[in-house]
Parts: sequence; C-alpha cells; structure tokens
Amino acid sequence: MSKELLAYVNGQYLPQSQASLPIMDRGLLFGDSVYEVIPAYGGIPFRVEHHLRRLDRSLNAIRVRNPLSTEAWHAVFDRLSAQLQGQDQSIYLQVTRGDSPVRNHVIPAGIEPNVVAFTAPLPPRDTARVLQGIRVITLDDIRWHRCDIKATTLLANVMARAKATDEGADEAILVRDGMAMEGTASNLFVVSNGLLITPPDSDELLPGITRDLVLELAADDGIPYAQATIDAAELAHAEEIWLTSSTREVAAVVALNGQQVGDGTPGPLWRRMDALYQACKERLRLGGECRDDG
Ligand SMILES: Cc1ncc(COP(=O)(O)O)c(C=O)c1O
Repeated sequence: MSKELLAYVNGQYLPQSQASLPIMDRGLLFGDSVYEVIPAYGGIPFRVEHHLRRLDRSLNAIRVRNPLSTEAWHAVFDRLSAQLQGQDQSIYLQVTRGDSPVRNHVIPAGIEPNVVAFTAPLPPRDTARVLQGIRVITLDDIRWHRCDIKATTLLANVMARAKATDEGADEAILVRDGMAMEGTASNLFVVSNGLLITPPDSDELLPGITRDLVLELAADDGIPYAQATIDAAELAHAEEIWLTSSTREVAAVVALNGQQVGDGTPGPLWRRMDALYQACKERLRLGGECRDDG
C-alpha cells in the first residue's frame, strides 16, 4: 500500500487521516474561512504568486491577518508537493479565523487563525474526454453578494452543482438579475461574433486565476476580447461557451440546457486557447515561465 500523504496543520505535518482542527473552529461552525486551490504541474505550483495575492485579498476582506509569510507558504507547498514526486497535483489551503472556547457569532479578541493544507494527485489530461466538452444548465444565483471573496461558505454552490448532476450536466452557470455570472466552481466566457467575452470583475463573482490567464493569453495571441456583462438570454446564441478553473482548465461547453452550443463540439477559438494554455503548462513543467511575465 502506498504511504499516506501528510497534511499541514498549524506548523505540523501529519498523516491526512489524523490531521484535524478543534470542533470550535470558526471555519467549521460559521464557514468563517477562506481557501485556495493551486494546481502544480510536474510538482511546480502554477501561477502561485497570483493565488497568494488572491489569498491576501480574501483575508483582507474578512479582516484576518495572513498567518504565514510568502516564504513560509512556499515551504509548505514544496514539502507537500515533494510527496508526489513531480506528479501533477492540486494543493489545497485553508485559513480559518481560528477557534475559541465558546461558539459565538461575535469575533473574539486575540483569536489566532488556523491553517490547513494538503495535496492530491491531479489525473492526467484525458484529451479524448476534454474534446467531448461539457454539458451545463443555467440556474438562479442564490449566493451572497461577496462572491469575490474565496470563502469556504459554499453551500449554495454545492446545491447548484447537485442540481446540475441530477439533470445530467457537469456544471451550472449561475444567473443573477438576468445576467450570467460564472459557474459553481468556474468562470464564464462566451464567444459572440468572434469576440471573447467574460463578465467584468465585481463583488458577484470570483476573480479567477485561470480567467486572468486566459485574458492574458488572448492579449498575447491577438484574440479580441472584452469584459462585459452577459445577458443569460444571449447564451443560447453564443458561438462558443467556455468555463475555466484551476482544475478544469479551459472547458468547452457543448450543450446548454439540453440545447447544442454552436455545432455541438468544442469551437475553433476554444481549440486555439486550449493549445495556448497547454503550451503554458508545458513551459512551466520544463522549468521555464508560463508567460514572459511569469
Ligand atoms: C465560484 C468560482 N468561480 C471561479 C472559479 C475559478 O477560479 P480559479 O481559476 O482561480 O480556479 C472557482 C474555482 O474554484 C470558483 O469556485
């Protein structure tokens, strides 16, 4: 049997099955915590500075100090990822506000954050499967108004994903006030008249690391793009729809609410972007930078 992976908990490395936080942890009791998921290709964390910047942003928004320095985070990622010896993996980290002796909504003075992190292997890319594309449905966005914070308070996302699964779909696109915002765990792009469009940054969606990279790759490669609101009614007429995330990468949507998107196969602009994205990963694996500016 392979050896159990170690997880990081507040400065210690323990077998995952023995790693735990106190039941009075506010992450458990109130969802009072934030997280990141960082893919590591060939064991090398991808866009790690971007993830750490977003972590700082989330922590600032909930007024929790970052308990680790950048160097300390890197040391944790190195130690965790070394366990999977150069394999592709995804590193998960969570910072909770901490635990206190009693359960109370009021934030106690002097509370110290709790930190957990662990890694898990990422399955190798299955190109045939990727080329099949994904099926999505649209659902009402019943989440709160600070979706820009990467909080672990994900019940609405989990329920929407369950509904998608019930309907034979892979993801749900969430619609607020008639506008398509993002997926339950992914950002949204559409191609309309050859223009690549993603909804603009706002409190209502997560500033995805993959989304930013897709925009940078589009700029590098001369693909016209814009950040603009997307009317949910327009989705049915989109030439292409993509959903992006650190673990899904750039996924082509081939069916929306049971109707074919485009010709029902991943579109030409998706093929171009997927190739750019894969090339970026490959450069990282070979010890280079994903893009010139890293
Ligand atoms: C709600 C939501 N939007 C977007 C994303 C994509 O973000 P990233 O590209 O940083 O993984 C995620 C990732 O989990 C998410 O949960």
